[in-house]
Amino acid sequence: MKTSVEYGVRDFLLALSKRAQIEAEHAVLILLHMDKPYTTEDSCLTFYTNGNDKVIIPARDPGSVKRILNEMALEYGGNAFDIKNYVKHNFSLLLEDHRKSSLGKYYTPEHLVELVHELVKPYIRQDSYVLDLAAGSGAFLSPFKSKRIIAADIDGIAVLILKALGFESVRCDNSLVNVYRAKYTLKENDHIIVVGNPPYNDMTSRNKKYGRHAKERIRVEMDKDILTNDLGISFLRAFNKLKADVVCVLHPLSYLIKETNFSNKLGEFRRNYVLKRAVVFPSREFADTQQTPFPVVAALYQRDMIGMDYDYIRNFEFEILHDKRSIVLARIETIDGYIRKYPPVKRDKNKKSDIGLYMHNIRDSNSLITIGYLTDKEDFNRHITINYCDLYKYACLNCMKRYFEKDFKFGNLSPIVDRHALETDEFLRDAFIIDTIINNQKLSAFNVRNDNSIIYTKRLPQEYERRRKEHIDREPDIYGMFMNFAKSENADIEPLKCFITQYFERLKIRMIY
Ligand SMILES: C[S@@+](CC[C@H](N)C(=O)[O-])C[C@H]1O[C@@H](n2cnc3c(N)ncnc32)[C@H](O)[C@@H]1O
Repeated sequence: MKTSVEYGVRDFLLALSKRAQIEAEHAVLILLHMDKPYTTEDSCLTFYTNGNDKVIIPARDPGSVKRILNEMALEYGGNAFDIKNYVKHNFSLLLEDHRKSSLGKYYTPEHLVELVHELVKPYIRQDSYVLDLAAGSGAFLSPFKSKRIIAADIDGIAVLILKALGFESVRCDNSLVNVYRAKYTLKENDHIIVVGNPPYNDMTSRNKKYGRHAKERIRVEMDKDILTNDLGISFLRAFNKLKADVVCVLHPLSYLIKETNFSNKLGEFRRNYVLKRAVVFPSREFADTQQTPFPVVAALYQRDMIGMDYDYIRNFEFEILHDKRSIVLARIETIDGYIRKYPPVKRDKNKKSDIGLYMHNIRDSNSLITIGYLTDKEDFNRHITINYCDLYKYACLNCMKRYFEKDFKFGNLSPIVDRHALETDEFLRDAFIIDTIINNQKLSAFNVRNDNSIIYTKRLPQEYERRRKEHIDREPDIYGMFMNFAKSENADIEPLKCFITQYFERLKIRMIY
């Protein structure tokens, strides 16, 4: 339920943008200064903060802003604190989509800030400095008000907002350039704790997932030794360069669980830090993200001399937010090394499928679900070749695409599989194949009306008739369904769908507990 303050803030921002045509960030700034004296002249509002300090905000029609401010003061004059608090935690919701996207502004909800605070608490010393070098509107700073805080953000407006919220020591700065302790007047032996939610844009791709309008390449200047194609990883490398004693930040779990990220991109960071605790949660916990959920982690690292290798990560117990179970990679069996995810490479001799069947390449479970379709088009740059001998494996993946509910815990992992079951259980393999044939009738390899489809070239009706007798005790009657379908192009496959859905559910439960 929205509170009256929330409604008030919304109404006010709406009035400023529609009636006075003020940009969202400027409107937020106005809101944070509404208890300060101001003048309106030369297409500007000038707020006087402390003595002679001014915050100047451009406004096409300062008169209409003034009228709106007067209305607001009448209605909400007594609630300045609540308004500031609301703005602090909901800043990004108030900003336009494209601005959020280019700077990776997903401001952090209070419960995640609290989570970081809880994780880091045991490591805070009397003399610690707490750093948030991508501080945004300061969500992470509030719990550390009694500590010596150093905050920075590249966005000038964010910095003005932080100052309005009372954080005086904040600087407007690119935290990835000139990364040295001296920049913050910190000494080599000062105890540093880094907190926050640094941006994590992949800068190499056209980045649709960070907002509908975010298609431009994002260029950020940074020191050479921390340069990577992901801002978040560069931030971790920057924390290493600063020799932070403790780092407790939110970042995508893929930095740790994808071996290439971990082993190559994290670089020195993984050699100098050890993961102490990690709590995983879905990206949807950030209220304003709508894309496919992926796992994010609140990760607590401590600087040490041994660091971590991938084996350490594989055996690490990742906690799950609001859940008693935990994720241990070593308990999760995936298709890696068993079912190929990528198109043919130069040294592959036979690129052509012997049954005219291909699948779009995939990276992980999320991409299987979104783009891992079967096709009869040859495209050796994008499509994986499927030969008849491997059909059951890709049929299993195709069923996953249909029935494996999106689940953030598995989203960034390669699709899960029970190799032993798949290799030893003929009925299971056939269930996947039959479901895949029936659900992909557009493909010539599977089409019942095509005399050259595998249904006839591989004599499936005859084969399945025989197997039906062999597996008479197994349910559902998948072979019966297939026969009906082959005869009449019609079959009730609901029981098959249920069977496969339940199979995947069980598989998930077996791997995460
Ligand atoms: C995901 S937001 C987090 C904000 C804040 N920590 C919070 O949770 O509310 C990331 C912030 O990083 C800032 N940022 C992006 N690149 C930066 C850079 N190179 N140096 C400093 N700040 C940067 C953005 O302006 C944005 O405010």
